[in-house]
Amino acid sequence: MKKTVLVTGGCGFIGANFVRLLLETRPDWQIINLDKLTYAGNLLSLEDISDQENYHFVKGDICDKGLLEKLFADHQIDTVVHFAAESHVDRSITGPAEFIQTNIVGTFTLLESAKKQWLDNGSGGTELCRFLHVSTDEVYGSLGATGLFTEETNYDPRSPYSASKASSDHLVRAYFHTYDLPILITNCSNNYGPYQFPEKLIPLVLNNGLQGKELPVYGDGGNVRDWLYVRDHCEAIALVVEQGVVGESYNIGGHNEMNNLQVVELLCAMLDEKVGMLPSGEPRTSLITFVNDRLGHDRRYAIDADKIDQQLGWTPKLTFEQGIDKTVDWYLANRVWMDSVMDGSYRKYYEKMYG
Ligand code: NAD
Ligand code: TYD
Repeated sequence: MKKTVLVTGGCGFIGANFVRLLLETRPDWQIINLDKLTYAGNLLSLEDISDQENYHFVKGDICDKGLLEKLFADHQIDTVVHFAAESHVDRSITGPAEFIQTNIVGTFTLLESAKKQWLDNGSGGTELCRFLHVSTDEVYGSLGATGLFTEETNYDPRSPYSASKASSDHLVRAYFHTYDLPILITNCSNNYGPYQFPEKLIPLVLNNGLQGKELPVYGDGGNVRDWLYVRDHCEAIALVVEQGVVGESYNIGGHNEMNNLQVVELLCAMLDEKVGMLPSGEPRTSLITFVNDRLGHDRRYAIDADKIDQQLGWTPKLTFEQGIDKTVDWYLANRVWMDSVMDGSYRKYYEKMYG
């Protein structure tokens, strides 16, 4: 079915992969990508598709009410897929203000604009309208050695990042219960894959490993995450937009728990095999450096993704072995992308591409 989708944060890691998925698999959908281009927004991640007819980029802030109202009205937006956020836990610990502003106030502003266009202006019924809020499993808190997060697990966020995402989830749900705004929420585990900013564990280790730099492992390296290939996450989101039940939340996960040291050691071995040992002849595991633990570091996240499997028929297509192999190959083949992030030149592309 034809849709006009406002994708927020489409120049970020998951957003860019999602825009690509839509262009490949839903060519009749119109895409408006609204992105503020913070440090995490990278136009180069979408450079090759930027002139496609059904893709339109707007530089702007989700906290800008006037801009949002204009976009909703001008483009007759019927679907929102909301990725835009401050997303890095470490940054939320040293500077939480932006997280409160974008993740909470921004989501509120977006909800208000959707409500105004779809409900208050009565622009033709909401049966086809959908507001999908992309969230994280971190809202559920930290697990011990056993157990899984289900959609019924109580929220227990423990970092400024996860608290800001939990707040936004609550606001989104409140707009459903109070106003009947047609919302959906997805809570996903850790993603990895192409176009991820190298502040996150996997691209950071790949980048440092290639350059022979230290590989920082927080604490004892025993913290556990569930890893999902980004394209699988994007396919789940598209499916929830099309077939999810309004008002519901869906957990999305990779059935793939690993501790951080296991992930880092695996990446070291893969790089050694694909590009050869370090110039010193040593393996890359020699670069592993245990550093001070993250404050309040959540020990373990693990997702029960049965609901989306049973109700919508989604399971990850790639195993971790397949996904991580594609990912390492992508970073090796796209050193130009990584170099432009590392030297900061990626930030100059707005003027080059849009004048
Ligand atoms: P990211 O940090 O790579 O990208 C965020 C994007 O949002 C950037 O392009 C940035 O420019 C944009 N942005 C930030 N503030 C904005 C604002 N005020 N207005 C407009 N645009 C703004 O993030 P990501 O890893 O792609 O995550 C996307 C979403 O998915 C986030 O909501 C995050 O909470 C959620 N999520 C991420 C993961 C993960 O593993 N990365 C897992 C589960 C959920
Ligand atoms: P990260 O990629 O920041 O994602 P999140 O904090 O949202 O899970 O971190 C993944 C795990 O890796 C987390 O337990 C923290 C750890 N980590 C390190 O050990 N070293 C690092 O340099 C980074 C960035 C993360």
